[in-house]
Amino acid sequence: MMVDINPWSSEVSTDYARIIEQFGLEPIALSQIPNPSLHHRRGIIFAHRELGNILQAQSRGDAFGVMTGLMPSGQMHLGHKMVIDQVRWFQEQGADVTIAVADLEANATRGYSLSECRKIALEEYIANYVAMGLDPERTNIYFQSMRPIVQRMGFTLGKRTNLSEFEAIYGFKGDTNLAHVQAPLVQAGDILHPQLEEYGGLRPIVVPVGVDQDPHLRLCRGLAGKTNWFNVNDRKNGGLRITVSVMDENQNIIASDKSTTKAIFMQIVDVLKNIGYSDIMADAKHGIVDIPAATPSDRYPIRMSLLKLERSMGGPGLLQPSSTYHRFAVGMTGGKMSSSMPETTIFLNEDLKKMEKKFKRSFSGGQSTIEEHRRLGGNPDIDVAFQYLNFFFEEDDAALEEVRRGYIAGDILSGQLKQITINKATAWLSELGELRDQNAHLIDQFLATDSC
Ligand code: TRP
Repeated sequence: MMVDINPWSSEVSTDYARIIEQFGLEPIALSQIPNPSLHHRRGIIFAHRELGNILQAQSRGDAFGVMTGLMPSGQMHLGHKMVIDQVRWFQEQGADVTIAVADLEANATRGYSLSECRKIALEEYIANYVAMGLDPERTNIYFQSMRPIVQRMGFTLGKRTNLSEFEAIYGFKGDTNLAHVQAPLVQAGDILHPQLEEYGGLRPIVVPVGVDQDPHLRLCRGLAGKTNWFNVNDRKNGGLRITVSVMDENQNIIASDKSTTKAIFMQIVDVLKNIGYSDIMADAKHGIVDIPAATPSDRYPIRMSLLKLERSMGGPGLLQPSSTYHRFAVGMTGGKMSSSMPETTIFLNEDLKKMEKKFKRSFSGGQSTIEEHRRLGGNPDIDVAFQYLNFFFEEDDAALEEVRRGYIAGDILSGQLKQITINKATAWLSELGELRDQNAHLIDQFLATDSC
């Protein structure tokens, strides 16, 4: 069966192995990740696209960035916390941070006015980002409506796709509202514009998301790839092959006549020589350059050099974004977590009594009587309280493992497990509230100059 992944669906597939295969994601090996976070250690972040670009940039000491966006509608809850934790982790690894307030999207698809969006973004979202420890010096938050270049990019990238692709990726039909067609294009502008010179220049950008957002990444990566003048692919007989794409935008620059084409190929060869290759086979007639000795990890430096060359010739030189994918925490009632169903999640400003009530009512993996529980033990894999320790509240792996064992053995009862989680959640929510108040004065520092 095919898995249907849709960013707007109320269903969410948890068949992660199938998702990896069907959408061509790469599984994450813990050993690849320096300083793994709790989410990496626990397999919660389970797949990626081209994370290698980021890791290579990091290990070479080159710049790299992380990007996310928020729909300023409703309240922040634990699901949002997960993304911000990942953004903070990338920031700690050296990334600069760009965050889009998707006010145009919320305006078009949820009916909020732009001024309502601004208020919600500042008071609800950014206040929590500040409290969650993002570094104001290295975080830039902007509003889609106030950054024309993002809208312009979205508009012009539209040229690289069509309605059939939108139908295939998102399942759009004839009656789909066009705001839903425009939102992913503007979002592609969000994701790609940090590479422009005035927003930090060419560098790999990673977007950490839940798997339901992968359609946006597929679209965006496709759009960026289609603008590239020079493509790097695996070569059949080993090594890498560069092909040149002639298109409306570059026809006059790279293919006006034979001698121009030849000069372009000389430049490509020069770029490759500068990286250190000597065995280079350029075939201008067929539009290809082969590098038989190049290895897969050479792809990144070659692409970066070719994108620089493209930029020097007047092209956009956009690198496809990287992405990472996280599993979803189960909703508190056992189904999907959703902000439109408050009983399924905990809000970051939740009243402690309410939070406690939600855990007490939450779906349990325990047995129905104490006797049975002592005899058979509980099932932590389906137990909400345990899952929330795992995803959100217990930082210490050893302590988590102790609880897990105790629960499986029947030593820890469901009520006791819930109390452990409630205590942890109480401490976390209380501290977050204090940090929100203490750091409220920093909010303005997070805003980009075009958003003040
Ligand atoms: N569409 C996203 C949402 O519904 C918000 C968003 C806008 C976004 N631009 C982005 C997410 C760029 C990641 C990257 O929440």
